[in-house]
Amino acid sequence: MRKFLTSTLAAALMAVAVPALASEGPKLEHQTWAWNGPFGQYDKAQLRRGFQVFREVCSNCHSMKLVAYRNLEYLGFSDDEVKAIAAEKQVQDGPNDQGDMYQRPARPSDRIVPPFPNDQAARASNNGALPPDLSLMNKARAGGPDYVYGILTNFKDNPPEGVTIPDGMYYNETFPGHAIAMPPPIADDLVTYADGTKATKEQIAKDTVAFLNWAAEPELDQRHSLGIKALIFVFVMTVLFYALKRKIWADVH
Ligand code: HEC
Repeated sequence: MRKFLTSTLAAALMAVAVPALASEGPKLEHQTWAWNGPFGQYDKAQLRRGFQVFREVCSNCHSMKLVAYRNLEYLGFSDDEVKAIAAEKQVQDGPNDQGDMYQRPARPSDRIVPPFPNDQAARASNNGALPPDLSLMNKARAGGPDYVYGILTNFKDNPPEGVTIPDGMYYNETFPGHAIAMPPPIADDLVTYADGTKATKEQIAKDTVAFLNWAAEPELDQRHSLGIKALIFVFVMTVLFYALKRKIWADVH
């Protein structure tokens, strides 16, 4: 009886514990991010580097539909620079007076133009897999920036013994299930940074993740500085009320 009880108990424990372990996924390495902590702020030079990687690499496959070109001014680009960045892409507009749709260069008020006209076209170019929109990627996955950093840096040329990866898939230690349909997108010196920063794989990954974080949480800087102002306000009010209390009670004692 006792044995029966212990084994049932063990089985019950396993039933609870095993799915919990399985859903945890691979361990993520924590990185230090400029915007972490209550006083953290984005590093705009880093955001510009990350945007350079997105523009030259990721945007060949991934869309970023929630960000408009003019939002990039926050990264320190001038009006003219934003205009030039937008004008590199064509968007459909219309109808014109003849009732026809037409193509025109994108404007700062347009959202970042996706690489494919629709999901089917995106899948057709990516072995059937859909490259997800990156606008909210850093918030959509557990682990956020650390997870995306892991995805970008944890590809392995050879899967461990006994693991087979289907054709057209790649082994990635961070991706749940480890077989990902994205080819390793970054490598050392893949980009030549406009600001001269050395483009190691890790540097590229960090900068790209920073840019993605800004895209998903553009208001974080303001929120953090508002938090600091609120703290200063509370401190000043506390001092004032304390002084007032002493003054009011001075005569009573
Ligand atoms: C050649 C096309 C291609 C390029 C270039 C590319 N990706 Fe991907 N990416 C994909 C595809 C396809 C998937 C879907 C993978 C899957 O579901 O197996 C994907 C998935 C992802 C995911 C999601 C992983 C998840 O948890 O679902 C992230 C994050 C990502 N890519 C980031 C990037 C970043 C950042 C860049 C630029 C440095 C980039 N990708 C460049 C094709 C690409």
